[in-house]
This record gives sequence, structure tokens and C-alpha cells, in this order.
Amino acid sequence: MPKKRVLIVDDEPEVRKIISSILQSPKGGYEVKEAGDVESALEILRKEPFDHVLCDIYMEPLDGLDFLRMVKEKGIKVNVVMMSGKADVEQALEAIGYGAQDYVHKPITAGQLFFVLKRIEEQERLRAENERLRREVEERYSFHNMVGKSSKMQVVFDVIRKIADYKTTVLITGESGTGKELVAKALHYNGIRKNAPFVAVNCGGIPENLLESELFGHAKGAFTDAIRAKKGLFEEADGGTLFLDEIGDLPLPLQVKLLRVLQEEEIRPVGDTRTVKVDVRIVAATSKDLEREVRKGNFRNDLFYRINVLRISLPPLRERREDIPLLVDFFIQRFNSRLGTKIKGVSPDAMQILMDYPWPGNVRELENVLERTMVLCEGDVIQKEDLPPYMLENLVVEDNIQKLDIDDSVLSIKKCSRVLEKKLIQRALQRTRGNKTQAAKLLEISLPALIYKMKDYGLYKTQPF
Ligand SMILES: Nc1ncnc2c1ncn2[C@@H]1O[C@H](COP(=O)(O)OP(=O)(O)OP(=O)(O)O)[C@@H](O)[C@H]1O
Ligand SMILES: [Mg+2]
Repeated sequence: MPKKRVLIVDDEPEVRKIISSILQSPKGGYEVKEAGDVESALEILRKEPFDHVLCDIYMEPLDGLDFLRMVKEKGIKVNVVMMSGKADVEQALEAIGYGAQDYVHKPITAGQLFFVLKRIEEQERLRAENERLRREVEERYSFHNMVGKSSKMQVVFDVIRKIADYKTTVLITGESGTGKELVAKALHYNGIRKNAPFVAVNCGGIPENLLESELFGHAKGAFTDAIRAKKGLFEEADGGTLFLDEIGDLPLPLQVKLLRVLQEEEIRPVGDTRTVKVDVRIVAATSKDLEREVRKGNFRNDLFYRINVLRISLPPLRERREDIPLLVDFFIQRFNSRLGTKIKGVSPDAMQILMDYPWPGNVRELENVLERTMVLCEGDVIQKEDLPPYMLENLVVEDNIQKLDIDDSVLSIKKCSRVLEKKLIQRALQRTRGNKTQAAKLLEISLPALIYKMKDYGLYKTQPF
């Protein structure tokens, strides 16, 4: 370890000599320089770096407070410790207000001096350590606008890094709001194609008759409105990435055409006789269960095999709850800067609710909840009461379970849980207006399990939705 360096600024040579020898003694181990006035001290600081300055307060023509002010003005990074006699304790305190780290009394003893300097060094060490940790969290747990410390997300980040450079088609699957589009962008912007375009198209969002010319372009006069030729998205994305979002919604006739394009790497614009070579990496995403769509005949088997070469499955948020605090922090910072709010964080019981909630809308729902809460929140820390009321109902259920009025003679868990289960299912169905998929998520059971139970409890056909 290199020696720490101290500059002593005092107009009395005797004082400088004493302090110097204390600091240089084996116990101190400091490297020392001396200056007899403020101006020469500043001159020395301009040339060499120091860890600490020990500065007398009363000096002529410029005093210790002048020195402090000039150090700040010049932006010199050094710890300043004032040395005060009996008469100038007040000024020493004032100096701390101006940014001095501490002060020591004259006559100065070795013990006092080392105590003060070591304490400053320890604080500095802690600050550097915190900074290092914070940076590490940022680097290790965040990846291209995505954060996640869960092992499931760490695996996703690793896979993205590994496959970003290849042209191989990637299929991203995951429930709505799990971050599929972010992953698609991360794949593009981490790979060698990052300087070419990233073009996204929602296969379910464009009418079938327009989608073909959107994707492949059209020739002049190809149809009534085709006044001039138009490039398709495949050509727009040439050299880059085409993100086919909601590929499960691609109409069957276009599935055939897409398959041909993927195999031949060339497109034929609508109404055109020529074909155009394109170099495009395809990243597709879906929140549907494509295997099931294939079985149902809604998605072509051959296209499925062609795009399902590399697969990234994004886990729902409720299966990686350890990411929630990190995401909450991430969104609070983002919204503070976007909305100008000054939210510092979330109270422990509010965080508990965020951790327990099943998040059927995944990260997007968490993001929306935080935005709404931050706008409406009165204080600078989000409290339980600030959260949307429907999130608190989980708690109410727990309270109700505590209060559940069950006859003392009943001990059968089986019978009681049936009553409770039926109630919860009815409530979930009401909350989701009869949407069984969402209700199953809220109940944290599978959809087939919900349907089975609904039949069992006579809720399947009789429910009023
Ligand atoms: N790991 C993450 N870290 C930070 N933000 C995330 C993360 N995952 C998702 N988000 C944010 O959540 C929102 C939803 O993400 P995205 O649009 O990528 O999801 P999606 O899976 O494509 O959803 P959908 O199926 O509804 O289109 C976006 O605002 C995104 O920025
Ligand atoms: Mg999406």
C-alpha cells in the first residue's frame, strides 16, 4: 500500500515540525509536505495529489477559511482538517460548515491526530465500497434496460449474450408483460447487426389483407391503392433484425409465405415478378402456447419447427419474486426522472404486498402499478395504503380466513377447504369478469385445474358471465 500523503499548512515552523514528526513516525507512516502560507499551499496542491491537508485557522494574509474556500472553488479533491487554537473554535466549526472534514485542537497530540485521520479514511473506504457494490449490482443484475437477479433471468441474460451474434431464428415465449420485446431488442443491440435496423411488426395488429404487403412490399399497381411501389418490412430490416411479435396470430396463408422466405432468404413483393434477396435475422415472440396451436391446426407444424430453433422462455414474475425489489427500485428511479416525482422507496409492509401479489400482468402490471402509485402518493415513501385497493384484497382474504366463522364441531380440513375454495373461485371469476385464464392466474392454479374445480362446484355453466 502506498503511503498516504499529508500537507501541513501553518505559519509557525515549530508547529509544522512537531506535526510532521508525529505523522512520519512509524505509527503514522504518512508522507508529509509543509507550506508556510495559503498561497504556497495551493501552489503545491496544484502540482501533486494529497489525501489530507492539516490547515491552521489563523494565518496572514489569507487564513484557513480562505484556503478552504479556494480549495472548493478550484475543485481540488482533498480532505481538509482544520487546526484550531483555544480562540478560534468557533471558526473551526464554521469551517466544517464550509466542507472541512473535521478539526483538531492545539496543542495537537498524536492520539488525537491519528484518531481524526483514521476516521476520515475509514469513512472514505466505506463510501468507495458502497459505490463499488452499487456499480456491481448495476452491471451484474442489469442488461440492456432489463433488470433481474433471479437465476432464471440470469440464465436469460447469458443466453442472449451467447446467441446475439448468430443469424439463427429465435423464438421468445412468455406470458404477456414478461419482457419479450425487451429481449428481442437486447438480442439485436448486443449482436453484430446492432448498427442495422431493428424493425418490429405485430402480426396480430394488422388486417390480414394488408399484412402481406406490409411484410414483403408491393409493386406499383399491385392493387387499387398501390400508386407507387413500396418496400416491405423485410427489406427495411435488411442487414438487421425483423421482430415478428405475436407470431401465433399470423394468418395461415401468410405462414406458408413466411416459411418460404425463411427457407430461401428472398422475398417476392405483392404483384411483382422479381424476387429480392434479403439478409434478415428473424426474432419471433408469442404469448400463446404454439405447440397447442399446432395441435389445434392454427399454426403450421413446418413453420413452427423452422422458428423454434433457439428458444428463450421468459418466466412469469410470480416465479421470480426475488426480482421484485430490484424492479421496484428500477421503476421508481425511472419514473422519478420522467415524472419529476421524488419518491425515495417503498415501506416494508407495502413491499410485502408487492412481493405476495400474483402479478397476472407480470412486469408491465408492476410498472403500471408503480406509475399510478407514484403519481397519487402523498409522501415520499410509498405506503401500503397508496397501492391500488385490489392489491390489498389479498390481505382481506387472509383476515377473513382468520375470522372464518366455522362451527366448533367441524374439524374436517377437506370440508372447510371446499367451502373456501368455492368462494375464492367465485371471487376470482367476478374480478376477471369470467375470464378463466386470468382467474386461474389470480388463484395460482392451472387453467385445467380451474375448469375441473368449476365443474366440481357446479360453477361451470351456471355462472352469470
Ligand atoms: N426485466 C425487466 N426489467 C425492466 N423492465 C422490464 C423487464 N421486463 C419487462 N419490462 C418492462 O415491462 C413492460 C413490458 O415488457 P415487454 O413489452 O417487453 O413485454 P412483452 O412480453 O412483449 O408483453 P406483451 O406480450 O404484452 O407484448 C415494458 O415496459 C418493459 O420495459
Ligand atoms: Mg410485446
